[in-house]
Amino acid sequence: MSWRKKSNLDWLRGLAGIREDEPLATRTSFGIGGPAEFFVEVGRVEAIERMVTGCVEREIPYLLLGAGTNLLIADAGVEGLVIRVVNREHVIEGTRVRAGAGLKMMRLARIVADADLRGFEFAIGVPGTVGGAVYQNAGCWGKEMKDVLVDVHGFVPGKGAQTWTANDLHLAYRTSALRQGALHGALVVDAMVQLERGDGEEAKRTMAKLTQERNETQPIKTKNCGSVFKNPHGDSAGRLVQAAGLKGLREGKAVVSTLHGNFIVNEGGAKAKDVAGLIAKVKAEVKRRFNVELETEVEFVGRWK
Ligand code: EPU
Repeated sequence: MSWRKKSNLDWLRGLAGIREDEPLATRTSFGIGGPAEFFVEVGRVEAIERMVTGCVEREIPYLLLGAGTNLLIADAGVEGLVIRVVNREHVIEGTRVRAGAGLKMMRLARIVADADLRGFEFAIGVPGTVGGAVYQNAGCWGKEMKDVLVDVHGFVPGKGAQTWTANDLHLAYRTSALRQGALHGALVVDAMVQLERGDGEEAKRTMAKLTQERNETQPIKTKNCGSVFKNPHGDSAGRLVQAAGLKGLREGKAVVSTLHGNFIVNEGGAKAKDVAGLIAKVKAEVKRRFNVELETEVEFVGRWK
């Protein structure tokens, strides 16, 4: 039986700040995708917990959204409730920082540099939020969340609040137990990272240099979802795409970046199905030419069928 019965719809419509048929494309870095059936923005942890628990109890599908930087939302949109997590607080205690899941990694990188802390410069190259970065062990320039993460406060629907150590999360290259494992469906409330005392001005200079480098090698000013594919072991997806002659390949308004082969750019008005088609073509050609199975880093969400 469908979850869409009157009592569930009444419950959803009674949530504070609820919106129906809410466009999501503008809430993703790709600028692609259909609407959320129901949408709410929440900052307070108790409210997020209440909503997620309510969805689980009523078997209403839900999706937790951060900055939407690593998502490909289907053109038909997302069924059920989309909860945009916007808790953005942070607390610095000595060389440790606890940050809300909704805080942007790039913002946190600047905050900790202002506090003369080092070791988080890599985050200036990580689009998305702290929550998203934990979820997929995001990284840049050879460093990733795994290198700095101490613990995470979270919430398992039906089981309540929990604290996970970095070990509990089984962080690996662009994944975790939250993305693919025992904690799938759980939500990140905040995360603590361990940094080192140092010269914040130097950290800022390093970050400026790294940003400039990223500007030259990645199409960061375009609408995109970051890396489309994970790097295969010991190689680079971007290199393989280039070697297969696929840069510039297009489907509708979606095009494989001519600057970096592991990016797909929405030139304006691209459809999710165009991007999905392009991804399928790139995978097939890289497999045919080099016998390498590329795995997507971007996550497909919503009504694809
Ligand atoms: N290369 C090509 N052609 C291309 C792109 C790259 O030949 O079109 C070559 C480069 O010349 C270089 C090698 O491939 O020799 C690796 O490229 P790059 O240094 O650009 O790094 P990457 O492996 O493509 C990774 C992360 C990026 C991160 C950069 C910088 C993945 C999938 N990607 O890219 O992360 O910004 O390193 O640290 O791990 C992201 O995850 O969204 C992301 C952008």
